[in-house]
Amino acid sequence: MLDKIKQLIAEVTSFDTDSAEIAEAFRVRLFGKKGEITSLFEQFKEVLPQDKKAFGQELNVLKTLTINKLKELQEKHKKTFKVDPALDLTLPGDPAPLGSRHPVSLVRNEIVDIFNRLGFTISTGPEIEDDWHVFSALNFPPEHPARDMQDTFFIQSNPDILLRTHTSSVQVRVMEKQKPPIRTISPGRVFRNEAISARSHCIFHQVEGLYIDKNVSFADLKQTLLFFSKEMFGKDTQIRLRPSFFPFTEPSAEMDVSCTLCGGKGCNMCKYTGWLEILGCGMVDPNVLDNVGINSQDYTGFAFGMGIERIALLKFGIKDIRLLFENDVRFLRQFTNAF
Ligand code: DAH
Repeated sequence: MLDKIKQLIAEVTSFDTDSAEIAEAFRVRLFGKKGEITSLFEQFKEVLPQDKKAFGQELNVLKTLTINKLKELQEKHKKTFKVDPALDLTLPGDPAPLGSRHPVSLVRNEIVDIFNRLGFTISTGPEIEDDWHVFSALNFPPEHPARDMQDTFFIQSNPDILLRTHTSSVQVRVMEKQKPPIRTISPGRVFRNEAISARSHCIFHQVEGLYIDKNVSFADLKQTLLFFSKEMFGKDTQIRLRPSFFPFTEPSAEMDVSCTLCGGKGCNMCKYTGWLEILGCGMVDPNVLDNVGINSQDYTGFAFGMGIERIALLKFGIKDIRLLFENDVRFLRQFTNAF
């Protein structure tokens, strides 16, 4: 055994190679599971006690020598590292799966982009609001049904603190802080105490628009909305405005776009009317301007509000609003290249 150790010490001392593979084979030959040094250590257990010292010393010399030699070789091969010829670098890599934006985010970003191009800034406000910003400042009479418990989520039965039912509250906050001219849009989440169905949800998203300046007219409103509709739904899109009522605008209107599916001929989606309702709008009621300290003699303005989910449903032909809240990736993945 001592001879074997001596022979290996000599071999290791003089060993050298330029090949990382040969070095590795050498390591396995000595230190592998059945390697020569490994088995010498096995045999060492059987050595007589009086011989242990002499054998042990030699064996340790061999072990340290080999470890140092292998380290030395490793360093050397690191410096002259060559690509393993067995590796095919032309093979395609493992694909990293790409995520996609949620359709509601896609549509919101698109709306924001379109109005940015017209010089509208973005503003936001709190989801937990007070009665003033959601209703009172917006000219809702005290007994207006929209304030009703059935529509509004109140916080801890305090009738003054509630979850905003529309993003119109943000126009009040902006007008309280900023002097005209004001041109802003406010995307955000809103809450209504409504039963969940294929067409409505108790949490959804809106974008509010507001433009206040001297001499803003209904014609400005109409052209802005026409521009938006063509950008959003295609250049052949037409709009129509129907008289309506909102406490905070006078006059008020609802806007329809020509059906995105049949182009106005009549189909299942537009219930054979050729039109789809998209948003509410109007000229800001002078009472609202006065409520926030803007002189309604000097300034006029328009406002509009639309539901993001509704536009997403129409744009992508989705039949059930609940799909937008379930976050099933098989559904969400279909929007990777939506815009
Ligand atoms: N806030 C209204 C709603 O939630 C939408 C709306 C209508 C906003 C007319 C407006 C507007 O700014 O002028 O149904």
